[in-house]
Amino acid sequence: MEAVFDVPSSILFGAGARLRLGAELRKLGVSRALLVTDQRLRDAGTIAGFEAQLKEEGIEAIIFSDVQPDPTDQNVAAGLECLRASNAEAIVAIGGGSVIDAAKIIGVAATNPQPLSAFQGYHKIPNRGLPLIAIPTTAGTGSEATKAAVITDTARLVKMMILDAKILPRIAIVDYELSLTMPAELTAHVGVDTLAHGIEAYVSKKANGMTDPLAISCIQLTSRYLLTAQKEPGNRGAREAMALAACQGGMAFSNSSVCLVHGMSRPIGAIFHLPHGLSNAVLLPAVTRFSIPGAPERYADIARHMGLGDSEALVEGLERLNAELGIPKLRDAVRTDRSTFESHLKKMADDALASGSPQNNPVVPTADEIVDLYRSAW
Ligand SMILES: [Fe+2]
Repeated sequence: MEAVFDVPSSILFGAGARLRLGAELRKLGVSRALLVTDQRLRDAGTIAGFEAQLKEEGIEAIIFSDVQPDPTDQNVAAGLECLRASNAEAIVAIGGGSVIDAAKIIGVAATNPQPLSAFQGYHKIPNRGLPLIAIPTTAGTGSEATKAAVITDTARLVKMMILDAKILPRIAIVDYELSLTMPAELTAHVGVDTLAHGIEAYVSKKANGMTDPLAISCIQLTSRYLLTAQKEPGNRGAREAMALAACQGGMAFSNSSVCLVHGMSRPIGAIFHLPHGLSNAVLLPAVTRFSIPGAPERYADIARHMGLGDSEALVEGLERLNAELGIPKLRDAVRTDRSTFESHLKKMADDALASGSPQNNPVVPTADEIVDLYRSAW
């Protein structure tokens, strides 16, 4: 099978790389840019630093800071309105995966008249969007290097998975210094998301020779450095390693695929509003146990690269990692009772299958098996 490998044209990586934003925009011939971000980063003063940098370069910055965690179609519509009013020539996303995903879709909403629901799925976007520079502040979703975005359709209560090379950032600026102040809980959630990207990219039916080395490096770095990054927030080596792992994981899964963990995670997020990384983390051990028989050698490779003996030790290792990171069980995370949870399971399983991700899993589950897996994660 032929594989396609799409990544940003440039990835600037390292301490201080963020200071190159103005120069990169000038290279693109941009004199007016929309900065897409969230209120937390604006309040923290991060955005003011970028504004000052762009002003020095003679570039006008217009700020849109109304992206919420798990961004919705309404966030995209508001951002599009701001973009149109500003006449910006490019978009700069500064934030976590939610901000970068929203910016990607704002960019193509500006150049395509269809409703966002028409973009759901694989390669459904007719026209390329505005040039996008992505600057992650969390390590992370890897969204700076992916052609995927997840946007909640508020009318249908579905997290739409949108995958298309037309939303790929033109440039990614990965500066781990932006992640030094990440809270411990966020570090844990997005760190397990990173690990899930590496694992799923490696066991996916669409894994290939371009994505395998990136996936393995992502897994190795995360297993070595995530706990340190959480316990010692100012540890520069650990933060740099996690930023690298996140970006590599993004490149890997974007060109391979995520699988059952992500497929089952999105409905939990859509209905119970769990952060993306947390909903992956609570599923990862059980889904791994279920999937090992479909790709025993691949899972054995993963175990070895994590310093664990075999696939059984891998499942235990993932459970232990969750415990050490303070990840709760699903029942404690969703803040709902068992019967409410049960009442949603059928739709959650159907939505998981409809997303297409579970079909790339080493073992393709039935809807009933997905319901059972949700129960075992409870
Ligand atoms: Fe993810």
